[in-house]
Amino acid sequence: MFITDDMCFRLKEKYGTPLYVYSEEILREKCRDMKNLLPNKNVKVNYSAKANTNLELLKIIREEGLDVDAMSPGEIYIELMAGFKPEQIFFISNNVSAEEMKYAIDRNILISVDSLSQLEMFGQMNPGGKVAVRFNPGIGAGHHEKVITAGKKTKFGIQKEFIFKVKEILEKYDLILAGINQHIGSLFLDGQVYVDSLKSFLEIAGEFPSLSFIDMGGGFGVPYRKDEKSLDLKKLGNDLDKVLADFLKEYPNKDVVFKMEPGRYIVAECGILLGTVHSVKKNYGNTYIGTDIGFNVLVRPVMYDSYHEVAIIKKNGGSISEGEEIATVVGNICETGDILAKDRSLPKARTGDMVVAFNAGAYGYVMSSNYNCRLRPAEVLIDKNGNDRLIRKRDTLESLVQNFDIK
Ligand code: LLP
Repeated sequence: MFITDDMCFRLKEKYGTPLYVYSEEILREKCRDMKNLLPNKNVKVNYSAKANTNLELLKIIREEGLDVDAMSPGEIYIELMAGFKPEQIFFISNNVSAEEMKYAIDRNILISVDSLSQLEMFGQMNPGGKVAVRFNPGIGAGHHEKVITAGKKTKFGIQKEFIFKVKEILEKYDLILAGINQHIGSLFLDGQVYVDSLKSFLEIAGEFPSLSFIDMGGGFGVPYRKDEKSLDLKKLGNDLDKVLADFLKEYPNKDVVFKMEPGRYIVAECGILLGTVHSVKKNYGNTYIGTDIGFNVLVRPVMYDSYHEVAIIKKNGGSISEGEEIATVVGNICETGDILAKDRSLPKARTGDMVVAFNAGAYGYVMSSNYNCRLRPAEVLIDKNGNDRLIRKRDTLESLVQNFDIK
């Protein structure tokens, strides 16, 4: 953990819990890992901001020289606010309205379209314009079926059998195909599937001889369990380098840029989630550690059965000599499924202790909600010098009602 147990209690005193805490140092290190993945190729890393859109984190990521992708006008709005230039933003759209498409076109932001019908819509709105197209390479990967975004069972991308149709629409509206993109899914720890999908994707690229970029997608995993091995970036880099070198031997535009879109890899490990133990009880032989980390704060365990390591921090540096027991860490939401960590061997907890969930920087805050009229948590950054700074306030009771028409 990047902060001490004492510091956890100090942050709790100062900001309350639940609290997301991020390390600037780790964030910068992860940006550099990705930037260094393919040193011999013409590469651009687009941070996939959906994983964490905190304004201050976006600013750090921009300082590290990454560009960004966006999923919605909302993400574009925040990214512009963080200082990204329109040409650094890539809008990877999915089933968007004409208004949403126009939002990006009006700001000179490149759009990738995800279906033939949306390519038509783009052509009608912006004839002669530049566009990108998302293809489905037929191979998917991911930690759960809900996050596999290529292959035969997903709504995403255009299959290669429809390349001729893409060409027809491009010609009909005189569109320039700036690039093609794919994203096979989220969280692989063995890079082979990414390499395999790339081979298939490059066959599609070969059909378009004058692309400015080829976007290989994100999905780079991080280990959530202590016994999982990290992704072997060196091997992945070497394997990708070879595949790309072979492709470039044949491809007419040698200046083509290869893009990547990592989200989770950049932010997962720089974030922890702090909570407070409010009760400990036994129900029919099971021990429940009741905390303020409900699934409104971190939904991944409930939504995908995702595993997050958790730890108990004893109040006043209290000893853990009372031993360990098997316990289930739960939140304060009125649903039985509100489980953060099931049947874990943990130090015996007491009211007032703290709980930490690790690797919470990706798909944590961004997926939080006001379910049960709970307040979304605050976020704190630990900067390079070890100082803490509030980078998002906790919701208030007033923010829960701000959209009502109160007479
Ligand atoms: N590019 C596109 C088009 C995507 O759809 C995604 C993620 C990414 C890039 C970044 O993928 P990453 O590098 O973060 O794996 N909420 C789920 C993950 C959903 C990912 C959706 N798309 C979770 O908590 O595991």
